Amino acid sequence: MILQTDPKAAYLEHREEIDEAVQRVLGSGWYIHGREVRAFEEEFATYLGVKHAVAVASGTDALELALRACGIGPGDLVATVSHTAVATVAAVELAGATPFLVDVDPRTLTLDVAGLEEMFAGPEGQRIRAVLPVHLYGQAADLPRIRGICRRHGAILIEDCAQAHGALLEGARLGNWGDAAAFSFYPTKNLGALGDAGLVTTNDAAVDKKLRALRVHGSEVKYYHKFIGYNMRLDAVHAAVLRVKLPHVATWLSAREAAAKRYDSLIEGANLHGFMRRPVLPVSRVAVPVCLRGLPGWLRACRSPRCRRVRCRRRAARCRGSPRRTGIRSSRVCRRSGRVIRPCCASGRGTVRSSS
Ligand SMILES: Cc1ncc(COP(=O)(O)O)c(C=O)c1O
Repeated sequence: MILQTDPKAAYLEHREEIDEAVQRVLGSGWYIHGREVRAFEEEFATYLGVKHAVAVASGTDALELALRACGIGPGDLVATVSHTAVATVAAVELAGATPFLVDVDPRTLTLDVAGLEEMFAGPEGQRIRAVLPVHLYGQAADLPRIRGICRRHGAILIEDCAQAHGALLEGARLGNWGDAAAFSFYPTKNLGALGDAGLVTTNDAAVDKKLRALRVHGSEVKYYHKFIGYNMRLDAVHAAVLRVKLPHVATWLSAREAAAKRYDSLIEGANLHGFMRRPVLPVSRVAVPVCLRGLPGWLRACRSPRCRRVRCRRRAARCRGSPRRTGIRSSRVCRRSGRVIRPCCASGRGTVRSSS
């Protein structure tokens, strides 16, 4: 049997580092939140180029908290798709709102934009407070148009990125387009923990603050609870493992893309494309390398031979340190290869020259 995903293989591939990370957490005596979770939040935010990342206990929690933190609740309609994991629709119900199901585009299997327009124009259109597109199978929903519709109607946009770690749309990573986005790190996902884990991203400081309080019983300051929240905290051991795996996501995505291409050609060769086909990929989905520690990593980031001219003007010796210390602010997409170059040493003065 060909496994679609194999979390054990991913563990065995990096067994030493993962074991070390788990031991580090066990020895630290700090098992929930803390240093590991904070570091993972920062590293994942850097990876996406988003301002805030808030780790939670699962992808379902991430969706529910994203909705709640954006003010969605009872009486609100949330337009989302029928073709998704049950968690997408369940999270809307858990937030107290009502799911309003839009069909998917049969070519891409993501939210049908024309259908969404119709819903807004229909009798219930006024009540749609949020739109929740799902990037199914790593395929980006048509966010430029969906975002335009949301803006026109004053609706919140929340992305379900549970299946789309590392995917790019017009040079920006998914998880960076709306008011908030939810990720799952269920073990079989492109980036999987050793158990349940999730995360919400946002560029809005107020939403970030609300998320952080909601996940710990409505508390902004320890032992002071402003409102009723949840226990949706992430265990440190999952964060530590995710930190080990994050830099390898690019390689795994590339391998998946290569496998998908091979399936395409075999299906085509066997004349089966009338019966089987993959959804159309309307946008660039790029396997994305990430470097969080030093210059050599990001020089490896763009492997296209044409991109050799990508250089950092700062010297490697000065580029040590975490993204926080080096002050990463932005990344660039190489216009030739479509790959993202993350300037881990760009602290304002150090800049990256794109090869294009
Ligand atoms: C599209 C989608 N949304 C949400 C979820 C929920 O994530 P979790 O299982 O981590 O709660 C999943 C997971 O299967 C998913 O595929």
